[in-house]
Amino acid sequence: MKKVYLETFGCQMNVSDSERIATTLEAGGYEITPDEDAAEVILFNTCSVREKAEHKLYTRIGQVRKTKQNRTALVGVMGCVAQLEGETLFQKSEGIDFVLGTKAVGRIAGAIESTLKHRDKFIDLGEREENYDWSVAEKQRHSPYVAFVPIIEGCNKFCTYCIVPFSRGRERSLPASNIIREVLELRRQGVKEIHLIGQNVNSYRPKTETGLEQFAGAMPFSRLLRAVAATGIERIKFTTSFPRDFHPDIVDAIDENENLCNWVHLPVQTGSDRILKLMRRGHNIENYMRRIDKIRSSRRDISLTTDIIVGFPGETVEDFQETVKLAEYCQFDTAYMFKYSPRPGTPAFAMPDDVSQEEKTARFLELEKSIKHSQFNSLQKELNKTLKVLAEGFSNRTANVLNGHTATHKVVNFEAGEEFLGQIVDVRITECKSNTLFGKIV
Ligand code: SAH
Ligand code: SF4
Ligand code: F3S
Repeated sequence: MKKVYLETFGCQMNVSDSERIATTLEAGGYEITPDEDAAEVILFNTCSVREKAEHKLYTRIGQVRKTKQNRTALVGVMGCVAQLEGETLFQKSEGIDFVLGTKAVGRIAGAIESTLKHRDKFIDLGEREENYDWSVAEKQRHSPYVAFVPIIEGCNKFCTYCIVPFSRGRERSLPASNIIREVLELRRQGVKEIHLIGQNVNSYRPKTETGLEQFAGAMPFSRLLRAVAATGIERIKFTTSFPRDFHPDIVDAIDENENLCNWVHLPVQTGSDRILKLMRRGHNIENYMRRIDKIRSSRRDISLTTDIIVGFPGETVEDFQETVKLAEYCQFDTAYMFKYSPRPGTPAFAMPDDVSQEEKTARFLELEKSIKHSQFNSLQKELNKTLKVLAEGFSNRTANVLNGHTATHKVVNFEAGEEFLGQIVDVRITECKSNTLFGKIV
């Protein structure tokens, strides 16, 4: 049996793809190993969203090629860098034997066999097979209790800074009937929490001939949410939402269904209307705030998180201050912040990257202060409350301490034995430190 080592960078979609890559390989007689030195095949499932993510690939290839054992191993590159760079990857790094695009993941076993047989470089950037199987073997899921369920792939938005529409292609929604069947199966296997994933889940829109007729109406995503809620699975989370497509009915669906988790991740990117236009996000701050008001008005105290980019081309100090102001208004439960990174091939790449590195860092730190403040407040208000936490694993710091997430996607550490793993337990929150809550089982 050939041993395969698989390393994944990037978003949940890549994690999910890797679960299917492992599923396909094990079904084809390969063994997945966590030991890169023992592997005959080394796979990197890559991310291209920022320059740093892409560089990780080249660093890692250099590292694995240095060790004696791995000089002879086959190295394959998959994912977004593979799709975007194609043939040029062979010139960029001598250590690469084959390249497989984002739609070709189902053909991984064939790629390995072909490279070995012909002893030559191999590349497949082709389209997805008609009968591509989106399911994941139980053993290959990243967690026994939490599962990622793709509902839409690709992106049609073409925000000017973003590489994803080029690496993942056009939007395609998966049939609702398949999604429901998958969730029922996961529930049967003991999964407690599912994440419906896609670059923009709010634009979920299955074709009628492949979806269920009732999903073709005006609000297909919130209808899907209600249908998934009806499966009775304990927790449903979804990412990522897109402000322009975020229909208020999604909040109503959350209000109506206890198992739809009270957490919305709604990336805003900037607080400046002028920059939003340059980013071509298709919304303005006023309608973003209207969405926020709707979310905040929910009876279920919905947690709100976002993504923000600082230092987009042309961002002035005044534009940046608008972002700080917006963050103060929204009181995000947390925000993922990024310094703008020019991506070749995107429209923004042609704009001068005119905010200096030092200025980007300064803005990042200033915004971080404000975000940390609202994040701390959001955690602080959980003190002395009893929250439902899914015990997902051991905390890496101390034995006998488990950790997991609340329905609002906050991390909680609590003292408990392994018999609680996989259960949703009541935890009384006793302490809060930077971005984590601590508590005791009640
Ligand atoms: N589809 C999601 C997420 C896309 S990538 C969305 O629309 O929000 C995740 C985050 O990476 C984005 O929200 C954005 O904040 C950030 N990002 C994307 N391209 C970037 C770039 N070129 N430089 C810096 N951050 C970027
Ligand atoms: Fe990128 Fe915009 Fe699509 Fe998100 S919505 S993946 S930021 S192009
Ligand atoms: Fe990265 Fe591709 Fe995801 S660029 S963020 S792995 S879609």
